[in-house]
Amino acid sequence: MQEGFKIGFTSFDRLQGVLVTFCGEGLKFGPATQKALAPAGDLPRRAAAADRFTGKNGSTLDIIAPSGLKVPRLVIVGTGKERDLEDRDLLRLGGVAIGKVPSAAPQATFVAEFAGGALKAEQIADLALGARLRAYAFDRYKTKRKEGEERPGKIEVHIACANPAAAGRAWTRAMSLADGVVWARDLVNEPANVLFPAEFARRAASLRKLGVIVEVLDVPAMRKLGMGALLGVGQGSSHEPKLVVMRWNGGKRGSGPIAFIGKGVCFDSGGISIKPAANMEDMKGDMAGAACVVGLMHALAARKAKVNVVGAIGLVENMPDGKAQRPGDIVTSLSGQTIEIINTDAEGRLVLADVLYYINKRFKPRFMINLATLTGAILVALGQEYAGLFSNDDKLADRLTKAGKATGERVWRMPLGPEYDKMIDSKFADVKNTGGRSAGSITAAQFLQRFVNKTPWAHLDIAGTALGSPQTDINKSWSAGWGVRLLSRLVEDYYER
Ligand code: BES
Ligand code: MN
Ligand code: ZN
Repeated sequence: MQEGFKIGFTSFDRLQGVLVTFCGEGLKFGPATQKALAPAGDLPRRAAAADRFTGKNGSTLDIIAPSGLKVPRLVIVGTGKERDLEDRDLLRLGGVAIGKVPSAAPQATFVAEFAGGALKAEQIADLALGARLRAYAFDRYKTKRKEGEERPGKIEVHIACANPAAAGRAWTRAMSLADGVVWARDLVNEPANVLFPAEFARRAASLRKLGVIVEVLDVPAMRKLGMGALLGVGQGSSHEPKLVVMRWNGGKRGSGPIAFIGKGVCFDSGGISIKPAANMEDMKGDMAGAACVVGLMHALAARKAKVNVVGAIGLVENMPDGKAQRPGDIVTSLSGQTIEIINTDAEGRLVLADVLYYINKRFKPRFMINLATLTGAILVALGQEYAGLFSNDDKLADRLTKAGKATGERVWRMPLGPEYDKMIDSKFADVKNTGGRSAGSITAAQFLQRFVNKTPWAHLDIAGTALGSPQTDINKSWSAGWGVRLLSRLVEDYYER
């Protein structure tokens, strides 16, 4: 966790450190900003003209040692036409703003006002959330720094606003979400020699501090239940699998829960069907679905969400050794369906088959959503911009699409159908774990669907979005913690509005 980032709320008349202000198209400032910049006279206007800065959304003007002002640096961030601004634009602008503050600066003050006037408390919290996420860096294994380089992100950010107390309250809620995203990022970035199933389970169990009920099932417990699909994947590793079930009961007593399930392959070597060496190191992130579920549980519990929710993660390591599962093996899943292993590298669906079936049967959730870095094929289809969405329920799919648009963590619906289902019928067992070269992401989803019965369900294939994330204004890390904001928003829309 980033220790060096502190945020506080203050009034418009206390400006310390790097000064960050906002302006609309045509260099329009709000009243408090005008007052703060008055001692600089026409400097902002002249600097803007020299740099052809007009206040376009996301553009910045950087003035060092601005004469008249008692600050080392003035940053002006353009907001463009403010009528079009959405929540996620505020996040972005918070990220842009902190990105212009040098990492060596100990303090910065944001004047939280746009040309149209003071911001609402929730908008200010979103601005702070964007700054917090942008300032994240996973640097716990860096022991050396270049000369003069400070530990990045060690900074106090003061947000000057009309009502600091109200903004502080809104931030408390947003901070729960920020911490959830940071949790997910940390877990995904962590190497697999440190984060193996037992260690992952230990970290998830620390959610107990927030009132989450956490159960950890070990191998004997899973064997007793009959989770032959999940256990088959883990049997070639010296690290034993774990299944973690987390429950947050913030809703009405007896009200049916919703469930989130994550693929937690702590390292995916491919097993006996071993992967090529190039980029295999990325497979430490094959537990990004599980990381998202843990981050989400953190966010919901920390904000005491009035909802009953189950989070479950299947934790395994997929390795080749003398005990490893072979192509041609047939395993019996918890559902009773037998599975012929064609390719040991199609392991995520085997893990999820047992966890989905278990959670559905035990909790009878209103709906289930699973997240998994499931197929390279989804990267071919959608790149890193959209996650693949597969669902047996149009309403749930629409809800996810809407939450995706609102948060910028976008999903694109892909088809399911009996024609694709035929592609995974097996010669020897009920089903096989791969469907051939074409429609790889769809046959993987069809496989999962055989283990969910009629429960409304959605599968998010996040192999493209969760790893090696594109650099954005709110993330510079290898992992964006993809999905935590999306699902937090979905729960909020569903229960908290
Ligand atoms: N974890 C991989 C999918 C993956 C690939 C995630 C690239 C992130 C980046 C998954 O377990 C896998 O190996 N899938 C195979 C399935 C195939 C054997 C049917 C794949 O996509 O090649
Ligand atoms: Mn694999
Ligand atoms: Zn995998």
